[in-house]
Amino acid sequence: MDRVIVDTDTAGDDTQALALACLTDRLSVEAVTVVAGNVPFDREVENAKYTLSLVDAADRPVFEGARSPLLKEYEHAEEVHGAGGLGGDLHPETEIDSAPGFGPDVIAERCRESPGEISLLCIGPLTNLALAHAREPDLPDLVDEVWVMGGNVNCAGNVTPAAEFNFWVDPDAAHRALAAFDVTLVDWGLCQRNRLGADLFDAVESLDTDLAEFFLQVNKQARAFGDDDSVALPDGLTTALAAYPQLREELATYHVAVDEREGLTRGYTSVDVRGLTDGAERTRVVESADDEGFKAVLLGMLRDGNLDRAIPSP
Ligand code: RIB
Ligand code: CA
Repeated sequence: MDRVIVDTDTAGDDTQALALACLTDRLSVEAVTVVAGNVPFDREVENAKYTLSLVDAADRPVFEGARSPLLKEYEHAEEVHGAGGLGGDLHPETEIDSAPGFGPDVIAERCRESPGEISLLCIGPLTNLALAHAREPDLPDLVDEVWVMGGNVNCAGNVTPAAEFNFWVDPDAAHRALAAFDVTLVDWGLCQRNRLGADLFDAVESLDTDLAEFFLQVNKQARAFGDDDSVALPDGLTTALAAYPQLREELATYHVAVDEREGLTRGYTSVDVRGLTDGAERTRVVESADDEGFKAVLLGMLRDGNLDRAIPSP
């Protein structure tokens, strides 16, 4: 996995994922596509541009994608990320123009031009991925890897008891994506098992770098939102796992499907761990991760953007 398009609903944890994807030498971010999710769409676009400028990657094109899910109504998650999505503080506009083109078109075109070479890092609702697939039916055979942060594997959701936010916002897109692509899934349950606590925050506070300050700021609201002064960093964990295979501990492949019906179980992630259905077993679920290794990657990034020193040799 090298060339990657990051599809994001840029708010708190997305920003850390985007920074990591740009700073690691394991990935080459060639485009960012924005999708409706965490906060108002234009603020997500600005957050992506601001984050790229912070890590000297403002040359990566930001393409605007779907401003709403395929079919469903939804609400933002500003209560988690703070007004505007970056902990509540609004930064001055970057004055960076969005790149010309619609995100799903760009995903389809770039993958068609470079078959098997581009991976997708999907860290928001899957609307853009579903629309790209509708434009290019062969997309599942044209992408390299597809990494998705979403769903809740045999655990409670975070936006309803049944569902995780990304899959709840656009369950129709999630249902179609998991049925069509070989996805590697980082779910809310894994993120809960790899939460970042006071020890990590104390270490970040001692770093005294711009990125460390940004990390603390964007997680301010999320930390207050939780009940034990810790945070999950779903998109950051997903990107670290995609970039550093040695952080992946247990993985298993199952038939995974998403309930696209409106109502109590909207966005529910059905994981057939016992093979009770005849569904294709194609979704690779990361079931455990190297917690200390993930923290080392994060601290290495926040310290000076130098990640190789942070990674224990395999
Ligand atoms: O449920 C967590 C996911 O929803 C993360 O991607 C977060 O950024 C929000 O999009
Ligand atoms: Ca996200």
